[in-house]
Amino acid sequence: MCGIVGYVGKRSAQDVLLDGLEKLEYRGYDSAGVALAQEGGIRVVKSKGRLDVLRQKLAVQALAESSCGIGHTRWATHGEPSDVNSHPHSTPRVSIVHNGIIENYGALKERLAARGYTFESETDTEVLVKLIDSCYHGEPLQALHEALGMVRGSYALAVLFKDFPDTIFAVKKESPLIVGWGEGENFVASDIPALLKYTRDYSVLEEGDLAVVTAQGIRFYNAFGEPVERQRLTADWDQEAAEKGGYPHFMLKEINEQPAAITATVSPRVEDGMPDLRIPELTDERLRSIRTVHLVACGTAMHAGMVGKAAIETLARVPAEVDIASEFRYRDPILNKDDLVIIISQSGETSDTLAALKLAKSRGVPVLAIVNVVGSSIARAADYILYTYAGPEIAVASTKAYVVQMCVLYLFALRLAYARGELEKAETKRLTAELLRAGEVIKPRLDDCEQIKYLASRFVNTQSCFFIGRGFDYALSLEGSLKLKEISYVHSDAYAAGELKHGTISLITDGVPVIALATQKKVYEKTISNAKETKSRGARVILFTTKDAVVPEGVADYIVRLDEYEDLLMPLQLIVPLQLFAYYMAVLRGCDVDKPRNLAKSVTVE
Ligand code: F6R
Repeated sequence: MCGIVGYVGKRSAQDVLLDGLEKLEYRGYDSAGVALAQEGGIRVVKSKGRLDVLRQKLAVQALAESSCGIGHTRWATHGEPSDVNSHPHSTPRVSIVHNGIIENYGALKERLAARGYTFESETDTEVLVKLIDSCYHGEPLQALHEALGMVRGSYALAVLFKDFPDTIFAVKKESPLIVGWGEGENFVASDIPALLKYTRDYSVLEEGDLAVVTAQGIRFYNAFGEPVERQRLTADWDQEAAEKGGYPHFMLKEINEQPAAITATVSPRVEDGMPDLRIPELTDERLRSIRTVHLVACGTAMHAGMVGKAAIETLARVPAEVDIASEFRYRDPILNKDDLVIIISQSGETSDTLAALKLAKSRGVPVLAIVNVVGSSIARAADYILYTYAGPEIAVASTKAYVVQMCVLYLFALRLAYARGELEKAETKRLTAELLRAGEVIKPRLDDCEQIKYLASRFVNTQSCFFIGRGFDYALSLEGSLKLKEISYVHSDAYAAGELKHGTISLITDGVPVIALATQKKVYEKTISNAKETKSRGARVILFTTKDAVVPEGVADYIVRLDEYEDLLMPLQLIVPLQLFAYYMAVLRGCDVDKPRNLAKSVTVE
């Protein structure tokens, strides 16, 4: 939530900042702004709305060249999206961009007002910049140390002082922040994609770190103000990975990248046909001792967790609980030392998920993280990591990250089942081979999407619809429904198919769309009966099932056929047409597919 960038070097800071902000717009797009160090002071230009509005504003300003500046793209927390609430916030001496929330800003504001400061915005960030200003007597480090010592809350900050026009001060507490290493130039950013055009070398700031960034180098200080070194990492994502590459939207590109992401994630973890997690501490003996697995995540990642639970329980017969991170962290969960907590997150920065991880660790329970972003906060805090290799996911709606999260959970479930003697070696190998070919299995779903486009055109004016399914199909109903509502703004609900007649069926009247998922042989007939119940009450039913399934007359208005595949792994195939349905619905409804309203990709506030 909110993206921040900083640049100091030999290029036009304005150009580099706009490039970086474009890559970070997925973190929020309520407003954008830049502050540029220039002769005579800091020049701030900011505006409500998308980055393009800022670009237009800058184009008519004819600003003097600057090679040092900071920028921001906002997801509003305090104060509505407006010009005045946009970042950077400034005093004549200091300018800042901020990602996070200052919890005690009300009390600080009163104190500053008593000292004569006035405020024009409703933001916590304006209070913060004035607090820093009030502590500033020519020594930036001292001012930041003193001011931040009075603050409660979370922040990633980039700060410019008028007196130090060639330096950016970057500070981090609980919100993500990295610095990028260039040649005669250096960078600050919330996330790696903002850097990729210029450098792949970066360092991650640790809790409480302050970095002093100049064109010549970067110095780090820890929370006690002591000079420290921070490891230099190299991103293995390339610049093209963060571009649309000819697709009209990142979401469509990322849906199409799923076969490659599956192969990249699964194949390095298969040895002699067997799943190999490559975590030395998670030996088969250790896996045998696990009592309960807790899968904790938010949103789509939590839906991957539901598939993981079903796989773990089906294959390994180990109890598995799925929790929404924001509930888990406050409900005093029952955890035992021989449990395992699995934290799932694409960004590795989701605030509730990180808090859930910390809670588990504070109870002495080992934590395995399934994360896409290398070096992210969750990756650094976990005991064990299984990275997903989806590459950068830019569209706000998660697609390829979800698919590879499921893959990693399948690998885990297979190894767990084998270690515990629930699966024979031959069967483990067979299922692992099936998982390995998942990329191939889903390719036809990407190639023949005409039927899905047609269905979207038939349902484009829908106000509300229902997804139903059982078992794995229920988990997919939840995800299919979330995708549809978040990007196309069609109201949608997902139900376990058998649950419908316990209340919801009263909403089924003439013409209401019901998307019935029936890919699981064990419960196929049950789901078909449930679909029929809605059909007889007037529903327009789209049935997703497999090629060979026999569909009785009068159950569905439209049937989408998938290839026959292992029931257990069917979610990997089924999700593709559901993602495409949401995508084409959103396109036809004229929605901003990659940046749906009110959302941000990386939810770094509670
Ligand atoms: C929905 C979506 C979100 C995220 C959720 C968790 O399409 O993307 O529901 O899945 O915000 O984000 P991560 O995985 O970054 O922790």
